[in-house]
Amino acid sequence: MSRARIIIDADPGLDDAAAILMALASPEIDVLGLSIVAGNVSLKDTVTNACKLVGISGRTDVAVHAGAAGPLVRDQVFGKYAKIGSFSDEFVARGGIVPSEEHAVRFIIRKAREAAEAGDSITICAIGPMTNIALALVQHPDVARGIRQIVSMSGAFTALGHRTPWAEFNVLADPHAAEIVYRSGIPIVVMPLDMTFQALFTAEHFKSFGDRGGVAGGALFNLFSTFDRSDVARFGRPGGPIHDATTIAWLIRPELFISRKATVGTQVTGLTMGYTYADFHQKMGRAPNAIVVTDVDEAGFINLLIERISLYGSSASDPKRREA
Ligand code: RIB
Ligand code: CA
Repeated sequence: MSRARIIIDADPGLDDAAAILMALASPEIDVLGLSIVAGNVSLKDTVTNACKLVGISGRTDVAVHAGAAGPLVRDQVFGKYAKIGSFSDEFVARGGIVPSEEHAVRFIIRKAREAAEAGDSITICAIGPMTNIALALVQHPDVARGIRQIVSMSGAFTALGHRTPWAEFNVLADPHAAEIVYRSGIPIVVMPLDMTFQALFTAEHFKSFGDRGGVAGGALFNLFSTFDRSDVARFGRPGGPIHDATTIAWLIRPELFISRKATVGTQVTGLTMGYTYADFHQKMGRAPNAIVVTDVDEAGFINLLIERISLYGSSASDPKRREA
């Protein structure tokens, strides 16, 4: 089994936490490192949160790299749950790692160039504002040769936005970066709200994290039980999405998803800045630049996430054994 070699570019963030812990537990995935960006909360807090998550995962072989503290051009906006700030010690035990001295953008450039040299390109899971990735691509366009694909939790096409009526947060927070990534020519897998809203996690699922997932699962139980993300008025049923974990699930079990080619882009100015479009029929006369993941098997995805978090509570919970 060849393992997917990935960089996770994230702004932890609750759903980032689930994605990061899922990836670090999954034998199919080789996490080369975490590149961290401001987004849900400030860069200081996203870095702190990432370091704590790596600590509780036991995978202290994985480095955390601090990156961009704000967007390329627009004014900074934070996530709906910005009040969370850094994960308190009562939710996520302290004792994590310290961040690397290497800046996240330098890390992305270095790993992409190494991958190109080795002929073994890497995947970037972009689950925050795409500022770090855009900076790497603008500063050194050659790095694209070492990037196999960018799996990006971003965008909203049939779904309305959530941070604003027209925009998904990762794009809203840095639309210029999103457009640079979408137009980079690198194969892009876009995982929009249209799909992530189809899989809703409830208190029963959070309890499974806590009952079966050891310290890491307990941290997810604490976080998701405390910060309720359900929205019955919007979804018509209990539960809330864990957007970012879909990117990891897609790498592990792509058969849980349905996708279509499209030409994807975003508006970078004006009132509806961050609005994303997907042209599935090439009516714009531009070749497709992405595959858009339109549907997910809700039960399959939920069970996979619970199964992987449960590895932290099982006898296989030795982080080194999980690498095998
Ligand atoms: O719109 C959802 C995305 O914005 C998720 O990645 C969430 O963590 C926030 O970054
Ligand atoms: Ca995120």
